[in-house]
Amino acid sequence: MTTVNTAKLSSARFAQATDAFVEVFTASVDFDQRMAQQDIQGSIAHATMLAHCSILTEKERDDIINGLTQIAEEITHGEFVWSIKQEDVHMNIEVRLTDLIGIAGKKLHTGRSRNDQVATDIRLYLRSEIKQITHQLTRLQTAILDLAEQHVDTIMPGFTHLQVAQPITFGHHLMAWFEMLGRDQERLQDCCKRINIMPLGAAALAGTSYPIDRIMTAELLGFSKPSANSLDSVSDRDFAIEFAAAGSLIMMHLSRFSEELILWSSAQFDFIEIPDAFCTGSSIMPQKKNPDVPELVRGKSGRVTGHLMSLLMLMKSQPLAYNKDNQEDKEPLFDTADTLINCLRAYADMVPHISAKKANMYNSAKRGFATATDLADYLVRKGMAFRDAHEIVGLAVRLGLESNRDLSEISLPELQQFSALITADVYDFLTLEGSVAARNHIGGTAPAMVGAAIQTARQYMAAV
Ligand code: ARG
Repeated sequence: MTTVNTAKLSSARFAQATDAFVEVFTASVDFDQRMAQQDIQGSIAHATMLAHCSILTEKERDDIINGLTQIAEEITHGEFVWSIKQEDVHMNIEVRLTDLIGIAGKKLHTGRSRNDQVATDIRLYLRSEIKQITHQLTRLQTAILDLAEQHVDTIMPGFTHLQVAQPITFGHHLMAWFEMLGRDQERLQDCCKRINIMPLGAAALAGTSYPIDRIMTAELLGFSKPSANSLDSVSDRDFAIEFAAAGSLIMMHLSRFSEELILWSSAQFDFIEIPDAFCTGSSIMPQKKNPDVPELVRGKSGRVTGHLMSLLMLMKSQPLAYNKDNQEDKEPLFDTADTLINCLRAYADMVPHISAKKANMYNSAKRGFATATDLADYLVRKGMAFRDAHEIVGLAVRLGLESNRDLSEISLPELQQFSALITADVYDFLTLEGSVAARNHIGGTAPAMVGAAIQTARQYMAAV
């Protein structure tokens, strides 16, 4: 009688034991045990389908489901003993199932392979991680909207080249961040469509000779449909790459967001206060309050983009169908999901407590001649060519610089030296309030428009 040695996969074919180091080197259980609950969920659906198709008896199915349910609890309570000998999460669970229920445990793998099993687990895992990421992203979007609502008419300088360019409202700036995160949400939901396709039934690569019902398994697991090609199902990880790309864009946005918060909370800008709870002190300089959360988030954007690169390089050049290379997809994916959830959570917690130093923002816009374009536009409306107006405003700015005055503080006779077209109504345009109010069209910085953008955003949030 042949004895099956469960301590080594396919051991009957091997004359030699696996090299001790190779056993450790090739094992993935240390990290893929994170997908244990998804693995069990997939196995329960698979067994249910097998019984429905009379490939397993109802008794075998029930034994399998009971055993797997017990294993799920053992794992949840930290009682499950993971073993490198069993290589990965799939074999660890299967071997334990067989310990618990005997021969029926060995039948679970009928009509499937670890290749379609692992592809299913990753998809189920990503699906649930994306739910959490979406939740944190939504919290952050809401926090941004709430803050923007308080600052519809808070004036600050807008920058290009990090030089004061034109006055804007803080609410408008915040809504720019909201827009970026809105596209991030859409990308995540879009990549979910391609994640939510079921590989089970592809088996090792060619499908299975058992009369399985893939539509039933897909329905049991909440997938939108079974995959259309067995080779493709077990080999491609493009859905994971898409997730990492969407994640990299989120982190890139958070990194830019961070950069501005860091600059603005510096003594040099002094536009905002980040609450103490999100900062730390220096071990040597008692006066320091460092914006640790934004800095760390900015730093973490690097690792997520790194994971995207790893996954792309992992996939490139692999022949069809499954290759062991793919085992390397787990750690970058897990870390991408963890990093996204943590960074978004820290931001969603922090943003509601950011306070704006309105007077500093206002004065900074004033000092920077932010209404110079408004003066040029004023002259153009009075009939001057834009290039000439640009020249004249340059002269006025120089006078302001020399006498340390904003354009709105230069007297009418002085301004008229530069052009006879200038009359008393010019001051309506030289004030910061006049400047922002004038940009009164869809997408503009006028307080009325920012208010409308916030309302539209609220409706959008309520609808998704
Ligand atoms: N641990 C493996 C992985 O992560 C599971 C699939 C193994 N399949 C195989 N044919 N060796 O990809």
